[in-house]
Amino acid sequence: MKILVVGTGAREHALVRALSLDPAVTALHAAPGNPGIGALATLHAVDQLDGAAVTALATSLDADLVVVGPEAPLVAGVADAVREVGIPVFGPSAAGARLEGSKSFAKEVMAAAGVPTAEPRVATTIEEAAAGLDAFGSPYVVKDDGLAAGKGVVVTHDRAEALAHAQACLAKPGGRVVIEDYLDGPEISLFVLSDGIDVVPLVPAQDFKRARDGDEGPNTGGMGAYSPLPWAPADLVDEVVERVARPTIAEMARRGTPFSGVLYVGLALTSSGLKVVEFNARFGDPETQVVLARLETPLAAVLLASATGTLGTLPPLHWRDDAAVTVVIASGGYPGSVRSGDPITGTEDADALPGVHVLHAGTALQPDTDAEHLVSAGGRVLSVVGVGPDLAAARAAAYAGVHQIDLPLSHYRSDIAAAVADLPLV
Ligand code: GLY
Repeated sequence: MKILVVGTGAREHALVRALSLDPAVTALHAAPGNPGIGALATLHAVDQLDGAAVTALATSLDADLVVVGPEAPLVAGVADAVREVGIPVFGPSAAGARLEGSKSFAKEVMAAAGVPTAEPRVATTIEEAAAGLDAFGSPYVVKDDGLAAGKGVVVTHDRAEALAHAQACLAKPGGRVVIEDYLDGPEISLFVLSDGIDVVPLVPAQDFKRARDGDEGPNTGGMGAYSPLPWAPADLVDEVVERVARPTIAEMARRGTPFSGVLYVGLALTSSGLKVVEFNARFGDPETQVVLARLETPLAAVLLASATGTLGTLPPLHWRDDAAVTVVIASGGYPGSVRSGDPITGTEDADALPGVHVLHAGTALQPDTDAEHLVSAGGRVLSVVGVGPDLAAARAAAYAGVHQIDLPLSHYRSDIAAAVADLPLV
């Protein structure tokens, strides 16, 4: 199978890595990819938001499957463009991707489908936003309605900060915000594959969204993750499938916009039961890095089944008994304005450690030099993944990898999976 993966992040590197281990995959291409992906796939300098260019590339490669990783190309309709020429594509249409592209649309679908979630207030003026904040009280939750590259959500006890975020979102063209009650309780990410009708859940993971240890600092795209979750209820996945995924997929089909690809269900286990915090229309980053590290079933046929409407005939997925932990190394300044062009060393030494692999995100090769001259080129730079027989071993492997890597002024969290490391896997 010839596969083209669209995207540039560590999530796409994880997808390419898993596909490279699948004997059914005969050729791997990425657009535009990154230096880490370039070690496993042929890179093509194509704008990932340009549906016509991605389609032309897929056609010229005679691709059997296109996998669209990030949300922005999905919302821009790249999957629609590829699908139109008859090439199977993993990822929802632009209409399906509205589940991520508009928080208020997602809430509307959840309400119609009876999915448990916090009651929202949608505001288009600062007065409505202020009234929403006062109705729900602290901690305040303010979400940009549209895509915001991981920076759209502010959760704070500071009303002025909440209002300032609402103001910044409202200032964008067509800006609006969703204000809602804070959902207490631990958060879980569960990815559910769909072909528009059937659903297949993957295994749950937990993400660490705040920049600093102890869940301090600003929200980020995610600073680390682990799987499995030994503390999660045994029936969690079944409950999410029955109460969230199936009703949502059915509601999208009923509206004439069937959703295929991966529905990322962000959940909180609150004192009054599970509630959806957010939907995304793509794999999570960095959760994908740990979920795919545990997947034993070859990935290509799984993604193709979603793309071709045949998930119902897919044999059950197999998972390794191992645990996986990933730690993100971020550039100085992240999630604010970040440094770039700083030299990165030690990734090969980290990769050589048992149970460790390094996935690239914001990296670049310095022009006119060789692979030794890897430099930072973004906020989240690397995801170091550790795999082991339990969470303590996986965590130790991930941090052993992190300690091999040097990137001036970079930062990472030192507490990923720390609180659960000693729990036995069930
Ligand atoms: N890790 C959060 C996200 O992918 O949106």
